[in-house]
Amino acid sequence: MKVSISTLKKYYSDKQVLDIDNLCIEKGKITGLIGPNGSGKTTLLRIISGLDSDFTGTVKYDDHLLDKDIYKKMTLVTQKPYLFKRRVYENIEYPLKVRRVNKKLRKEKVEEIMARFEIEDLRNKKGHLLSGGESQKVSLARAIIFEPELLLLDEPTSNIDPVSIKIMEREILNFNKETKGTVLIVTHNIEQAKRLCHRIIRLDCGRVVE
Ligand SMILES: Nc1ncnc2c1ncn2[C@@H]1O[C@H](COP(=O)(O)OP(=O)(O)OP(=O)(O)O)[C@@H](O)[C@H]1O
Ligand SMILES: [Mg+2]
Repeated sequence: MKVSISTLKKYYSDKQVLDIDNLCIEKGKITGLIGPNGSGKTTLLRIISGLDSDFTGTVKYDDHLLDKDIYKKMTLVTQKPYLFKRRVYENIEYPLKVRRVNKKLRKEKVEEIMARFEIEDLRNKKGHLLSGGESQKVSLARAIIFEPELLLLDEPTSNIDPVSIKIMEREILNFNKETKGTVLIVTHNIEQAKRLCHRIIRLDCGRVVE
């Protein structure tokens, strides 16, 4: 899915936090979003994901305005992911359940993604009792499992140990390669951005400075 942004302005009370004339997130590519704390990265992701509609300007998805269908094809993994008070297995299975995937296929897919992310040992833990890093791993697995056309990632590896970062980066790349899903990833790690991204966008005080 391609995302085209034009004349986007976002205010919190009278403070302007985003001012973007034109920005295109290319279809099938991994785009990095970098910039200092408070530069508007999370705000931009929330707007693109449809969670925040309090802005002026337009955001188009493959040349369409946001609707229910588009909403179902994308997902945002937040900086502090929210997981259900159920087992990790059920948390990861959930996006397939709401999309009415049959039980047998659901099981296959959950097993496959847990193996890929090397998180089989977390299977029976309760979602809300996981550590910060464990939650991020499970949330990325839960996002990728339904093969979204647009995957929005807000600092997905900020709490992650080096070995697990490698696994998560590998799976983000695999997802993009195998499904041609578009990825927009916020990171403070410039080396990570270089490893993963086809293009890197820098935000500063709400403006794009490429
Ligand atoms: N709900 C809110 N109400 C008021 N101001 C807010 C709100 N959320 C964010 N802001 C402000 O908007 C600006 C942009 O915040 P945002 O969270 O988008 O930054 P960020 O680039 O994601 O920063 P970080 O790297 O720390 O995650 C900041 O100045 C922040 O204080
Ligand atoms: Mg942020």
